[in-house]
Parts: sequence; structure tokens; C-alpha cells
Amino acid sequence: MEKMNGIFLLPEPHCTQRRKAGILPSLEDLLFYTIAEGQEKIPAHKFTTALKATGLRTGDPRLKECMEMLKVTVKTTSDGALDRHLFKKCVQSNIVLLTQAFRKKFVIPDFQSFCAHMDELYVKAKNMSGGQVADYIPQLARFSPDLWAVALCTVDGQRHTVGDTKVPFCLQSCVKPLKYAIAVHDHGTEYVHRFIGKEPSGLRFNKLFLNEEDKPHNPMVNAGAIVCTSLIKVMNFMNKLAGNEYVGFSNATFQSERESGDRNFAIGYYLKEKKCFPEGTDMTSILDFYFQLCSIEVTCESASVMAATLANGGFCPITGERVLSPESVRDTLSLMHSCGMYDFSGQFAFHVGLPAKSGVAGGILLVVPNVMGIMCWSPPLDKLGNSVRGIQFCTDLVSLCNFHNYDNLRHFAKKLDPRREGGDQRVKSVINLLFAAYTGDVSALRRFALSSMDMEQRDYDSRTALHVAAAEGHAEVVRFLLEACKVNPVPKDRWGNTPMDEAVHFGHHDVVTILRDYHTQYSPQESTGDDKTNAEKNLDGML
Ligand code: DON
Repeated sequence: MEKMNGIFLLPEPHCTQRRKAGILPSLEDLLFYTIAEGQEKIPAHKFTTALKATGLRTGDPRLKECMEMLKVTVKTTSDGALDRHLFKKCVQSNIVLLTQAFRKKFVIPDFQSFCAHMDELYVKAKNMSGGQVADYIPQLARFSPDLWAVALCTVDGQRHTVGDTKVPFCLQSCVKPLKYAIAVHDHGTEYVHRFIGKEPSGLRFNKLFLNEEDKPHNPMVNAGAIVCTSLIKVMNFMNKLAGNEYVGFSNATFQSERESGDRNFAIGYYLKEKKCFPEGTDMTSILDFYFQLCSIEVTCESASVMAATLANGGFCPITGERVLSPESVRDTLSLMHSCGMYDFSGQFAFHVGLPAKSGVAGGILLVVPNVMGIMCWSPPLDKLGNSVRGIQFCTDLVSLCNFHNYDNLRHFAKKLDPRREGGDQRVKSVINLLFAAYTGDVSALRRFALSSMDMEQRDYDSRTALHVAAAEGHAEVVRFLLEACKVNPVPKDRWGNTPMDEAVHFGHHDVVTILRDYHTQYSPQESTGDDKTNAEKNLDGML
């Protein structure tokens, strides 16, 4: 199995062998045909625009080689456009990822239409007023209540952002699931839960209260998060989780949190008294670390990559790096699901049905497992401490798309399914192929060819795309099927007719010429003799 950029390509023995033997065009050539849309050259901006439409960014670390080569190569051209040879040079080092993207093989195949839906949900929530910006420290109180941003990153690294997505803000409690994941990654579930429970507390997040075993209820409330802090050591996890996108630190917030943190000190002393920490822990320095972790800054964009790493089982989608163990991610998502949204956790699990964690700065880190990570950020909070606009967005998202954990994906057709298409692919594929040939849709055919579709597939009557295109007189389609896809030029349908018979029968002289020229050029010996078709035998009279 071939692996590149964290993506596995399933073996396609038939196509691969034919491609290697030079019978089929290379992936680079197919990609060229797809993007060039019949032109001789591809302007560089046309390539980057087409790339962005798939959801990939030109700054994606997985496309580094391609983008660097593009920059250098474009400078050598007079018109900023790439012919087939130059194009191949640019794309070859990232051809696997690029082919996946243009084949529409990513988790959200129709990314542009999905983004249009997301923008609508964003605008709807933007119009909401109400809620209070946290004001217990000046660093939070200074934020405008109008700030509103949503960023998403899919498990394939497709990105979309809308609103104030580049403004830094502190993770605050959104860091709790991340540090819990790191603790489980480092020590395993059993060890971590010697110190912390797994139950929702039913109490406010900063309550001075332990469970019957004198442990904090879970790692999403302050007591549990403080104990969790004593279990982790490294900070570079945060950078890795965010695929090296923006992660900063607000020292001013840290100082203010410490100065205003009497409740957390009270919790700390209580935890110490009840021997909740591992032996030898210095409680006050752990509290400092806790306040520091709350003061880690992200942007909506970088935090969406962190959420996507959780959605992707611990692999960062844009670097392909394994950051967290699958076990730690599963445990984290479970506890985010049951305990992540303060005293609204039960309702959120009921209505939205997705793991999430909110913070006092107005962030909601939302995970659609195996699909995408989302960060919503807007400072005004409701009475329970959750971002008003963020909650609205999450609720609307799940009303629109079948992302709720318990949405039925097979029988509940009322919601949008933005994920990969299901159904009988083979039947769909023949229908799509023949329909594209019938309507003369060359760009659809280019896409199908890039997707390794068998361009010689036959319908119930054994008719191929070439039969249909010849009968309809679509010369460009016929040329594409013959020259780029190298399909068999003389297939016979159930009545024994070839594409040439169709072209002759319907009087499409240009198609007849193309078929004849191709036939004589590539298989001159086959175009003579007894196996000539009816139309071939009559050709001389016609031309
Ligand atoms: O521990 C604290 O009180 C804050 N720094 C907590 C942060 C938070 O987001 C929990 N909030 N509502």
C-alpha cells in the first residue's frame, strides 16, 4: 500500500499496472487535463484557485514542495502559465495529496457548497445579541462583544474560516481537554484516573467539591483540571496539536488569573489536604502552571487544527504527525461529550450530540469525530458561561447536517450529509459516465478519469462512453476518450455496433474522421481484414 502525506492509497492493481505500462496517462497528466479544461497551459493562479476550492491551502505544510517548485517555475515562464511538462514538474512531489483533492476524495467532497452553508449559519448567529463578556479580569473585559469567528479544519486538512478568525484569545477552559489528552497519552487511562473521576459533577465548574472517593469528579472542572496539570510536563504538544500554527501566551492574563484566583487556591489547598495529587507535588507551582495553561493564546484558525487533531484520532491533519494516542483521544472525546459544557453539558449532549469544550474567553472547541474540528469564538457568555453565538452555531450545525452522534446515516434523509457519497457506486459511475458523454461534458469526464474511473465501462446494452459520444457527435469527448484515456476504439455493443457505426449512422463526419485517423495511427493492422465493422467497410464510400 502506498503512503504519502499521511494518506493511504488503496491498491488499484488494474489501473496502476496500465499506468505503469504507459497505456494510461500518468496521474500528473490527468491532473493537468482536469485543471486545464482543454487549454494548452494552466495559468498558475488558475491552479491555486482550483486548489483552494478543494479546501486545501497553498500554505498547507503537506504541499510545501509543490508550492516552492511552482514559485520557481512560474518565474521561468513569460506568461505565468504552465504547460504539461512544467505542470508535472511542480505537482509530482505532492501528486498523491493533490489527486485525492481533485478526485473529490476528501471527507467533505463538495467543500464549497458546505462552506456556503457554514457562512449562512455564521451570519445567522452574528445577528444575535445578549450575553455578557467575562469581566473578572481586564484582559477579558476589553474584548468587544461583536467579535465572532468560526474556523474549521477537516481530517483531510480542508480549511474554512469566517469572521475574526485571526484575533488571538486565551484558551481558558478549552485547554482542559487538551491537557487531559496529554496526561492520558503520557501515562495511560488507568494511571490518570487513579487521581480523577469520569462522572459529570452536576455542580459549577469551580465548586470546591470532590466525589465519594475524594477525587475531583472529572478533568473538565477546575479541581480535576488542576490535578491533571500536575500530571503533564511538556508544552510543545500544543504547537504540534495546532500543526505549528499560532500558539502564544498572555503573560498579563496569567498574572491576572493568579491575582484573582482565590477560588482556585482554595480548591488547590482542599485537593492537597485530601491527597489528590501524586506524591511530592508542589501544589502552588501546579496552580501557577494551571493559570499558565489557561493563558495560552490561540486564534480561531489554529484552534480549529487542534480540534481537528482530536477529530482525526490524534494525527494532526495538516502535518500528518501523530501527536496523541488513539486511546487518549477517545477518552478525551468521551469526557468532552459528557462534561465539556459546564452545567449545560447534558443538554448539549442531547441536542448537539458532539464532544465540545467551552472557555470563559468565549471559545467553543467542537469536534465532529472522524470528520472535522471547529473552533467558534465570541466573547459574550450566557448564564452558564457558554458563548451565546457559539451555542447557536453548534445547534444550527447539527440541525442542518447529520453530525449528531445518534443521527441515523442511512434512513434519516431530512438532513444534509456533507460526507462522502455512499450508495451503489458502480451503477452511479456508469450512469454518470454515459450521461457526461451524452451531454458532451468533457470537464466531468476529465474528473472521472482522474478518479481512476474505468472509462471503458459498459451499460446494460454493452454501450460505452465512446459509443454515446460518437452517436451524439461530441468530437471533443471522442478525442479525449481516445487520446487521453486510451479507451478501446472499437468496442462492440450488444447489437455489434462500434462507435464508428454510430458516427456514420448519425452523420457526424468530424467524429468519423477522428475515429478513422486514430484507428489508422494506432492499430493500422487491425483496421484491415475481416474483423472490420460494418461502418468501416463502408467508410471509403463516405469519405
Ligand atoms: O479557572 C478559572 O477560573 C478560569 N481561568 C477558568 C477558565 C474557564 O474558562 C472556566 N470558565 N468558565
